[in-house]
Amino acid sequence: MKVTAVYPGSFDPVTNGHLDIISRGSRLFDRIVVAILKNPEKEPLFSLEERKRILERATRRIPNVRVDTFDGLLVDYARRLKASVIVRGLRALSDFEYEFQMALMNRRLDSTLETVFMMPSETYSYLSSRLVKEVVRLGGSVEGLVPVHVAARLSKSLGTASGKTVRKGPRKRSGEKR
Ligand code: PNS
Repeated sequence: MKVTAVYPGSFDPVTNGHLDIISRGSRLFDRIVVAILKNPEKEPLFSLEERKRILERATRRIPNVRVDTFDGLLVDYARRLKASVIVRGLRALSDFEYEFQMALMNRRLDSTLETVFMMPSETYSYLSSRLVKEVVRLGGSVEGLVPVHVAARLSKSLGTASGKTVRKGPRKRSGEKR
């Protein structure tokens, strides 16, 4: 029996941590559907369509991955896909409570769906979309933490020149001696 897994999230934007989970999942399951939540209550930086485009570009070399969007209950969407697994990344202990609640609620809603937690490489264990946006907004570098096209898109949206600024020390004030 072929196993379809769904990997849901906001992906605003996708990070290398997400991509690490997607590529691990693609080796474990026959098909992995990355499902972006359409959530009108959240105010994302990128539109749903743009997040989808960004994710499609980032995953185009992984053959058994498809990117989609969904709204409503995740379990209903998974049922429509005939998915039997929900994949979630678990980075640190701080993720646990939220993930535990979601997994058990989803199990209550549909006991045939199994949530599988996967750990990303330790390189990405502190990484989140929120932090990436904050760093770019404040002029720091996110090189190696998101794909190059995502860094460029973030810089464009958040108004920094390249997204590659690495500040090694405090900024010199005007009139200050070297
Ligand atoms: O990346 P995120 O924002 O932590 O992902 C959260 C997500 C999309 C997995 C979660 O909010 C979700 O599944 N929403 C769909 C609505 C739903 O099914 N809610 C009940 C699940 S407990």
